[in-house]
Amino acid sequence: MSVLAVAIFLSAATGLVHQLVEHSHWNELRDGSNKSPQKQKTIPPLVIDTFQDPTLNDLGFWHGSGENLIVEHSPGFVRFTPTDPDQNFHTQFDTHGCFSLWPWQNQFLHVVFEGTDKFSVSLNEHNAECDPRRRPFPGVPDTVEAARYVMRTVVSDHGEPSQSRNSTTRQDESHIPAWDAPGSYSKTELYIPMSHFHIAQNRVVSVSFHGFYTHESVTLHRVEIVPMVPSPSPENEYFKIPSKLPNGRLVFRCSRPGSFAFGIDDGQPQLAQQVMEILDREDVRVTFFVVGAGLRDPETNFTQVYREMLQKGHQIALHSNTHPKMEGLPTVGEIDDEILQTMQIFKEKLNVESSYFRPPYGTVGARMRQQLAQHLPNPYIVNWTVDVEDWLWANTTTPEKQLEAFTNSVSRGGNLAVMHYVNPTTVQYLPQFIQLVKSAGMQIMRIDQCLEDGPPL
Ligand SMILES: *[C@@H]1O[C@H](CO)[C@@H](O)[C@H](O)[C@H]1NC(C)=O
Ligand SMILES: *[C@@H]1O[C@H](CO)[C@@H](O)[C@H](O)[C@H]1NC(C)=O
Ligand SMILES: *[C@@H]1O[C@H](CO)[C@@H](O)[C@H](O)[C@H]1NC(C)=O
Ligand SMILES: *[C@@H]1O[C@H](CO)[C@@H](O)[C@H](O)[C@H]1NC(C)=O
Ligand SMILES: [Zn+2]
Repeated sequence: MSVLAVAIFLSAATGLVHQLVEHSHWNELRDGSNKSPQKQKTIPPLVIDTFQDPTLNDLGFWHGSGENLIVEHSPGFVRFTPTDPDQNFHTQFDTHGCFSLWPWQNQFLHVVFEGTDKFSVSLNEHNAECDPRRRPFPGVPDTVEAARYVMRTVVSDHGEPSQSRNSTTRQDESHIPAWDAPGSYSKTELYIPMSHFHIAQNRVVSVSFHGFYTHESVTLHRVEIVPMVPSPSPENEYFKIPSKLPNGRLVFRCSRPGSFAFGIDDGQPQLAQQVMEILDREDVRVTFFVVGAGLRDPETNFTQVYREMLQKGHQIALHSNTHPKMEGLPTVGEIDDEILQTMQIFKEKLNVESSYFRPPYGTVGARMRQQLAQHLPNPYIVNWTVDVEDWLWANTTTPEKQLEAFTNSVSRGGNLAVMHYVNPTTVQYLPQFIQLVKSAGMQIMRIDQCLEDGPPL
């Protein structure tokens, strides 16, 4: 297990839920800084990582991988060979506390790399307490699509831009040696304005690379923050910074004070009636994230079940059409299909238009966020801070570990849960989960309500 994974495992409770707060912070900052551009020029670049050490970056903090990403390290680079969009590599600004990027807010994240550009880059916020034992840790990221920010420069033997290469010869880049090798080669870099990361930049924890939608490798040479971007020229194909694309609101926690919400994903049709009875008996409303394909299949009875859930006042929200790791889909067209088909069947069978979406497996990346934001008005992308870990324990000889996982997450400040009703043991513990929350003095409500967006309580 990686250090980060251990840290996540050990991590703890509350952080104000922020999205809105962050945005207003952010705008103030931008406005303020625009008034004194000269001041920004005096800020030196921040070299985050040149990969000299296997576990520490240039700031003296940890870098490493999560989710079993295969990483090859040599002094001067790391090379990833991804097999899954959840795999990730973080390089940290600080290990325990928060780091402020305010002095660099008008500058650019600069990454020198070779290989595929089919991945996402995130700037990860710390939680409100700057405490890795609280939930979530890391906190909310904002994420951009690497491919949109790539600058390719053709350079000659002497490191000078070459006039001799044209777009035909450029096709062959995959066979070009490392960017700093002798001979004619192409250098690939990312320049991402720090202003494209809409998080609280006064408390960041790391930069991360994830959301791979390829098995091709990528090699990182350098990660830093720099004040300038090269001017557009023929050598860099007139590179221009793209605009920031809308990408929805990623939420981990309820924002309404004292609130708690259950987001219940996929279920076993045979357990649906039992879940409904428990919710009736406990008199709580929850949010169900429903897969489109299940509604299409009459055998599941899900259309009838969720119609009844709607009548009882529960929130019904989107969870894709066929439940893939959406960011891992090779094309944007396939991501669109997942979104559009589930929207269509929701409308047809339930007459529901929801802008709440829970990503299957919690897999999130730039492209799926952008596509969701293209089809849904400012969508909520709902992650969680309480995991009952039914996927881990429900089928074992120690199903009570689900209760332990739930209690542990709540004690670390989690207030937005993920669970399923796939296994009878999870359903059996549901009344106890509810009791635990009630006895902690929190009020259970739908996710839209806990985000101060839904119908009145
Ligand atoms: C690009 O270079 C190749 C090989 O040198 C040449 O055959 C081709 O005509 C050039 N293409 C253009 C558009 O200049
Ligand atoms: C299907 O769901 C409805 C609504 O909950 C329920 O009344 C009905 O008994 C269910 N049918 C079957 C066959 O389970
Ligand atoms: C979603 O939340 C879980 C639990 O906090 C976390 O492990 C995962 O990285 C989060 N996903 C994203 C995209 O932030
Ligand atoms: C749990 O076990 C049942 C039967 O023993 C099986 O059908 C189901 O797929 C298992 N679920 C998980 C999540 O492993
Ligand atoms: Zn699911």
